[in-house]
Amino acid sequence: MQVLVLQTSLRGADSASRALVDTYLNTLQAHHRDVTITVRDLASQPIPHLPAALIPVQLGLSEGADESAALAEELIVELERADIVVIGVAFYNFMISSSLKAWSDYVVRVRRTFVYGAEGPIGLLPAGKKVIAFMASGGVYSAGPAAAMDLAIPYLRTIFGFIGITDVEVVRAEAQADPTAGPVALDRALEAARLFA
Ligand SMILES: Cc1cc2nc3c(=O)[nH]c(=O)nc-3n(C[C@H](O)[C@H](O)[C@H](O)COP(=O)(O)O)c2cc1C
Repeated sequence: MQVLVLQTSLRGADSASRALVDTYLNTLQAHHRDVTITVRDLASQPIPHLPAALIPVQLGLSEGADESAALAEELIVELERADIVVIGVAFYNFMISSSLKAWSDYVVRVRRTFVYGAEGPIGLLPAGKKVIAFMASGGVYSAGPAAAMDLAIPYLRTIFGFIGITDVEVVRAEAQADPTAGPVALDRALEAARLFA
């Protein structure tokens, strides 16, 4: 089993989303022998915003020959190889981090990860892949008055669906800004992370 891990929290050891990912991976490794994990820490080693040189590459007009094309190729191959994509999602300003958005700009490429057919877009990634998003947020967005302000999970479902991954599971540690509710929500999410493995 090939697991691609994308980390986005800037908070290192204090991060709730990183704790969820770590708990999931530790449990997965305890339950399964053949787990290979590739980690992309987009917070500590961010990839650059999409450069102009990659526009013709992403449009399928050129192979590209510079560093950015090589990086894009590497990121796409990592995604193609992965059976499971595990994402630690730090919820920033109602969205995913800009580092994760930059990653998505590199892996969405015409005739490589998607194509437009007669009836609309078709995702080209091999079938059977799964995304698990472990998201930590200061407030509560799974229900209630702020639900419509969660642009992160709808975005992740849209972008992964676009390239062919429609199986997107979400585990939330919400209310992390609330000193009473936060730890309770995190404990519950950690338990869910163990059950997912
Ligand atoms: C720059 C920034 C923006 C944030 N924006 C939001 C937000 O829009 N809504 C929210 O509920 N929490 C917001 N938070 C709080 C984080 O979602 C919260 O700290 C969460 O635990 C971050 O994930 P982590 O624990 O994995 O670092 C923000 C935090 C930072 C640093």
